[in-house]
Amino acid sequence: MFLVINGPNLNMLGIREREVYGNKTYKDLVKYIKECAKELGAKVKILQSNYEGQIVEWIQKAYGRIDGIIINPAAYTHTSVAILDALKAAHIKTVEVHLSDINQREEFRKFSYASLYAEKTIMGKGFEGYKEALEYLMENYYER
Ligand code: DQA
Repeated sequence: MFLVINGPNLNMLGIREREVYGNKTYKDLVKYIKECAKELGAKVKILQSNYEGQIVEWIQKAYGRIDGIIINPAAYTHTSVAILDALKAAHIKTVEVHLSDINQREEFRKFSYASLYAEKTIMGKGFEGYKEALEYLMENYYER
């Protein structure tokens, strides 16, 4: 079982900065990930929160239970040592995804704490980044 964790404001997809994130909604993203999972024969649980502590708790709970994590920490990418520490503690194979290319935007988006743990980072590919992340985990995970 893989966990997909989406951070703050991703529930506002389709409304927020459409020139950056596109017109599709969060509901569309969830549908897309579910379809990809079905196609690949992967089991996924998809979660979204605007709260850092909630994300930390989901990662902690995944310890020993989850085969891989796909995380888009959104704004917490650039600020959260707590999420980085949770990922290190849970020690689960992790792929970081960003819809936009964070290296082509403001300076403050260039640094990612999550990248210090994630085995792979996929950015700038929109929804498809999640598919690529799932494919990567399917090829590389160790079943529990
Ligand atoms: C994001 C990029 C972050 O810098 C931003 O804060 C987000 C979304 C992305 O998916 O492109 O909320 O993680």
